[in-house]
Amino acid sequence: MARLESFDKLVSLSKRRGFIFQSSEIYGGINACYDYGPLGVELKRNVKQTWWNAMTREYDNIVGLDAAILMHPKVWEASGHVGGFTDPLVDCKKCKTRFREDTLPEANMNDKECPECGGELTDSRQFNLMFKTQMGAVEESASTIYLRPETAQGIFVNFPNVVDTSRQQIPFGIAQIGKAFRNEITPGNFIFRTREFEQMEMQFFVNPEESDEWFETWKERRKAFYDTIGIDPDNLRFHEHGPDELAHYARAAFDVEYKFPIGWSELEGIHNRSDFDLKQHAEFSGKNMSYRDPQTNQVYTPFIIETSAGCDRTTLAVMCEAYEEETLEDGSVRTVMHFHPRLAPIKVAILPLVKKGGLKELATEIKDDLKRHFNVFYDEKGAIGRRYRRMDEAGTPYCVTIDFDTLEDKAVTVRDRDSMEQIRVPIGELQAWLAERILIR
Ligand code: GAP
Repeated sequence: MARLESFDKLVSLSKRRGFIFQSSEIYGGINACYDYGPLGVELKRNVKQTWWNAMTREYDNIVGLDAAILMHPKVWEASGHVGGFTDPLVDCKKCKTRFREDTLPEANMNDKECPECGGELTDSRQFNLMFKTQMGAVEESASTIYLRPETAQGIFVNFPNVVDTSRQQIPFGIAQIGKAFRNEITPGNFIFRTREFEQMEMQFFVNPEESDEWFETWKERRKAFYDTIGIDPDNLRFHEHGPDELAHYARAAFDVEYKFPIGWSELEGIHNRSDFDLKQHAEFSGKNMSYRDPQTNQVYTPFIIETSAGCDRTTLAVMCEAYEEETLEDGSVRTVMHFHPRLAPIKVAILPLVKKGGLKELATEIKDDLKRHFNVFYDEKGAIGRRYRRMDEAGTPYCVTIDFDTLEDKAVTVRDRDSMEQIRVPIGELQAWLAERILIR
C-alpha cells in the first residue's frame, strides 16, 4: 500500500470530509490550533475510549481521574516547570521570526544570521512554554496561574486522595485523559505539534524495589496497545534513552515512535520517574505523600512508572496508517481510509437505492434499529457509487443498501469497504452480523 508522502493530502481530506478544520478559520485561522469536525470528533473519541478501556477496564488496579486544568501555582514550582520548562529562543531582528535555537543549522548560529531573510539573530534566551493567565476578578490582586502543560501533575497531587478512597493498594495506577497547553516556539506539521492538545497519561505507583520490572512490563503492554488500534508493527519503533538523554525526573525512558510522513517521531513516552514527583510535592505542600503497605507496615515514597501518549498524535498516526489511494481495475482512483472498525467514526451507512417504492421507509426502520448499537449514517441522495466513495473517505467499514429485492427477500446488500465485495444478509441477522465484525474484529 502506498504511504503518504506528506500531510497535505490528509489536510485536504480532513477539510473535505469534516475530520479536522483550522481553528477560527473564518477569521483567517489561528496558528497551530485545530478543531475536530463531525467525523474527527468520533475518531478521536474512539481512540480515547480504546486507550481508556486498555487501562481502566483491562486492569483491576487502574482507576480513572479527571483533574482540573487550572491548578495551584505551587504545583508548577514543585514539578520544575516554572524553573525549567523552557526552550532556547532566538529572534530575527529583521523579519521577527522566532526560532528554537536547538533546531537551527549551526552555520546560522555561528554567523548569527536568520535562515529565512538573512537578518541578524538575537542572542538566545530561555523561553518558558507555559501559558500564563490570571485568576480573580480584580487584575491587581489576581494571582498568576498556568494552563497545565501536562496532565500528569493532576494525578500526582491526587495520589493521597485515591489511596484514601479507592481501596487500591500498591501497585496500582491512575489514568487520565485531558487537555494540555504549551506555547511551542515551532509548532506545526498539522496536528503533530500544537499549542493546545490532549494527553492520555497513566501513572503507575510501585514499590521502589519493583520499579525496574514494572517499567519492563509497561513497555511491553504499551507496545501491544498499538496493535489494537490497527498500527502496522513495521511503522512503529522503540527507542530507549541513554543516560545523557534522560529528563531530570527520569531514571529510565523509552519512546514509542511512528513512521510519519515527516519521519520517525514520538507518539508516547514511558518513564520510570522514581520518587521525584511525590517527594517534590511533599516538600512544597508540606503534606505526607508516602505510602504505608498494609501487609508489611513498611512506609515508603512510591516510584512512578509513567505512560504518556498524545491523543492528537495517535489520531494523526491512525489517519496516516489508514490513508490509501487505490487504483481500481477501470483505472479510476478511490481514496479510502482503512480504519480499524473499532476506531471508524461511522460504523455503518444505510443507503436506500432510491427514496420511492417503500425503500425509504424500510431503510429508516433498519437505521433506527441499528443506531441503538452503532454510530450509523443515513444517506438517501445521489448516485449509489458516489455515496460509496464518500463512505470510503470517511472510513466506514460497511455500507448497507436497501433495494427492491429487499422488499421481496427481506435481505440487504452489505458492501465491505476494504474488499468492496458485496453480499446479501437477511435483515433479521444484520445487527449480529455487523456486531461480530465491528466490535470483535
Ligand atoms: N508527563 C510527561 C509528558 O508530558 P511529553 O513527552 O512532554 O511527556 C507526552 O509529552 C506526549 O504528549 C508526547 O509523546 C506527545 O505525544 C504529546 N505531546 C507533547 N507535546 C505536544 C504538542 N505540542 N502537540 C501535540 N502533542 C504533544
